[in-house]
Formats: sequence, structure tokens, C-alpha cells
Amino acid sequence: MKKYFAIIVATSFFSCFVFAENGPELFTKYSCTGCHSVKAAKIVKVTSKENTEEKDDGTPKIDPPDLSTVGKERTAEWMGKYLMKKEKIKDIAHKKKFQGTPEERNILTEWLATLK
Ligand code: HEC
Repeated sequence: MKKYFAIIVATSFFSCFVFAENGPELFTKYSCTGCHSVKAAKIVKVTSKENTEEKDDGTPKIDPPDLSTVGKERTAEWMGKYLMKKEKIKDIAHKKKFQGTPEERNILTEWLATLK
């Protein structure tokens, strides 16, 4: 019984660790850095041509914000929906629909929500 308890403690310890590590990694992995910087986490924007060119599909051009303090205004839950285009800002959905798994989306938005 003691042994199982140790395993449970160890796994929860490591999952916390992975949790803390993965937000910024996922942010880079899913190219959020193509549009956003997070100066507070020393993440710089990598501007690519695709993201700076004007689109002529009728969507107004809005500069993507730095997300250093996004957690002040948004909850993880709201951001999760926004990344799936189920929430909007002033009637406009997010540019990109999130391509990862729901778990990854949770890790990412939980991390973003801590940025205050
Ligand atoms: C093609 C460019 C582009 C990419 C890639 C992109 N975003 Fe955005 N994002 C934007 C723009 C533009 C806005 C501002 C939209 C507005 O104000 O209507 C925005 C807004 C946001 C907001 C809301 C900020 C606020 O003001 O509350 C969050 C959160 C966000 N993005 C997260 C992400 C995450 C996480 C990723 C990666 C999975 C990502 N974005 C990838 C362009 C992008």
C-alpha cells in the first residue's frame, strides 16, 4: 500500500512539473509566436511573411497583442473557447483555430491565465 502511495505522489509531482514547463513550449510549437510575443516570459515574436501580409478576405487587420498580462482580463476557459473560435472579441474570432489536442489547449491556456 505504501508503495502505491509513493507512486501516486511521484506521478502528481511530475505532472505538476511538466505542466509548468509546457505552456511556453506549446506556445512556440503551435506558432503562436508567429504573431504574439510574451515579453514577460522572454518569448519574442517571430514575424513571418504570411502573418504580416494583408489578407483580402474582408477581415480587418488587427495587430496581435503581446500576451504578457493576458491573464488579467481573460480566464483559461475563455481563452480555450477563443482558440477554438467559439468566442469572439468585438465580433471577430481569433485568426487561427488551435491545432493541438484539448489537453495541450488546457496546458497552454492555464499558463496564459497565470500571466498577470
Ligand atoms: C496569424 C496570427 C496569429 C496567430 C498565429 C495567433 N494569434 Fe492570437 N491573436 C491574433 C490577433 C490579431 C489577436 C487580436 C484579435 C482581436 O483583438 O480581435 C489575437 C488575440 C489573441 C488572444 C486574446 C488577447 C486579448 O486581447 O485578450 C489570445 C489569448 C491569443 N491570441 C492567443 C493565441 C495563442 C495561444 C496562439 C497559438 C496557439 C495564437 N494566439 C496564435 C493573431 C494571432
